[in-house]
Amino acid sequence: MSNEDITTPEGSRIQGVDGNLTNYGDVGFSKFIRRAFLNSAGLDPDDIDRPVIGIVNTTSDYTTCHREMPQMIDAVKRGVLEAGGIPFVFPVMSLGEILTNPTTMLFRNLMAMEVEEQIKSQPMDAVVLLGGCDKTVPAELMAAASADIPAIQLVVGPMTVGNYKGERLGACTDCRRMWTEFRGGSVSEKQIWEINAELAPSAGTCMVMGTASTMACVVEALGMSLPFSGTAPSVSSERLRISVKTGRQAVELARSGRKPSEIMTEDAFKNAIMVLAAIAGSTNAIIHLTAIARRLGLNINLDDFHDIAQQIPVLVNCKPAGSNYLPDMHRDGGMPALLKELESVLHLDALTVTGKTLGEQLADAEGPQEWQDTIRRTGKPLKGPGALVTLRGSLAPDGAVIKAAAASPHLMVHEGIAHVFDSLEEVEDTLDDPALGLTPEHVLVMRNIGPVAAGMPEAGSIPIPKYLAQQGIRDMVRISDGRMSGTAYGTIVLHVSPEAALGGPLALVRTGDRIKLDVPNRTVDLLVDEAELELRRADLVLPEPPKRGWRRLYATSVVQASEGADLDFLHGKE
Ligand code: FES
Ligand code: MG
Repeated sequence: MSNEDITTPEGSRIQGVDGNLTNYGDVGFSKFIRRAFLNSAGLDPDDIDRPVIGIVNTTSDYTTCHREMPQMIDAVKRGVLEAGGIPFVFPVMSLGEILTNPTTMLFRNLMAMEVEEQIKSQPMDAVVLLGGCDKTVPAELMAAASADIPAIQLVVGPMTVGNYKGERLGACTDCRRMWTEFRGGSVSEKQIWEINAELAPSAGTCMVMGTASTMACVVEALGMSLPFSGTAPSVSSERLRISVKTGRQAVELARSGRKPSEIMTEDAFKNAIMVLAAIAGSTNAIIHLTAIARRLGLNINLDDFHDIAQQIPVLVNCKPAGSNYLPDMHRDGGMPALLKELESVLHLDALTVTGKTLGEQLADAEGPQEWQDTIRRTGKPLKGPGALVTLRGSLAPDGAVIKAAAASPHLMVHEGIAHVFDSLEEVEDTLDDPALGLTPEHVLVMRNIGPVAAGMPEAGSIPIPKYLAQQGIRDMVRISDGRMSGTAYGTIVLHVSPEAALGGPLALVRTGDRIKLDVPNRTVDLLVDEAELELRRADLVLPEPPKRGWRRLYATSVVQASEGADLDFLHGKE
């Protein structure tokens, strides 16, 4: 195939390997030297005149859930070649949730910067964004939004489901649940290690509706990935077939020149938020979607999430809000079935990576069947509307969030005495000491885990003190400026803004104060009078930012969770 064989519709700007020309003096010489080195890689003129498709490789031994990615990359390459493109695989940093200290969230923006700069600086007419683990997909979409070259997302897909003595188990809702049972004494040491071997039984992302699964579903709703790509299991042949199709579609995207900014419109974000509500997805997706939208100059705020969630019932029965797993959702028809059920409220004119609008794409889709349990019909929801609630009040003037769908009904309106932890070490050292005298009515407050203080670790789900767990207590009101894993559950108020390290009211709370949570009225209040708070404010000493490196850049430029926790100089695009 030569350049003439490549049909380029009007407006398309296929540049092939001559895109983003390295500056070696005159243009002719720059092209000449570039071709010399492509020759050295075994590419002949036939190869190098094709549309270049970059493929982001986030394989890493540290990112265990991406273990199937090498096979998927081979499949994407095949699709690219079949469609007449030439694939270029390139590595970027990989963020594995479990093995990254203190939290991958500290590095999401770093990865987004790296991907953006790689996409912009290397020749590519379109890019396939391979990711899966929690922060990889948002980082890649933030990058694609800012670079705004044709892009398509491909996730590694969820793990298969584990089994222990007849009970189905999965990462990591059951990791937490079983650990709580072990702490409470109802699971033995031998049993907990047998369970351990079943919690993550294959390659793939955590198969409950945690952050990875949430983002995989939400990306499909945004129109940035192919139908069924959010839920097909990582180890399935379907995952490989979707990978081939994604490669082919990337070449079509290169030829059509369709950009992320044409796909990720305000309507597309509203569709994504409806899906977030219908799946009772991870609270982390609120931060990620806000950050991606701001890259595109769209102002999605906490009230948008709340208002949309109030209109959409929970239709997907997956842990932690329900009882099933992502492979079950896939068998029930995946995202196309869910989107079909939501068709009457979705913005159907939103364009997708396929070149069709969402409405056109759903024309042939089948909605959920009456007998299905994982994807429900609107008339038989798992829970009513309001999966995610955003709160304000004297403790969180700029907002906070709670996943009401995974909270305890009896704690939704609760007033109790605060017990404050200033650090993770303090939790570790003191939480289980009965001398603290904590009761189930106490409100556990954790601070200094916000974006500026610590990059927002998922430490907001403070464990239930061991002596209370042993009495059968499984939930208490917990409040922090940090995050929690999308796989976690409980009455947990998160993302309190402004955070304590910026002098937000959370910094003023003292053990013994009273706090009132009122989810139906969307408030979280510190019941201390203003004069007393003024005195405490005068005594407050704010922490110094780290001295050097990425952590200094991060701490001095990250915005609050309610604004997406991006770096302030990364909003928008050039
Ligand atoms: Fe990667 Fe859970 S560890 S998705
Ligand atoms: Mg997670």
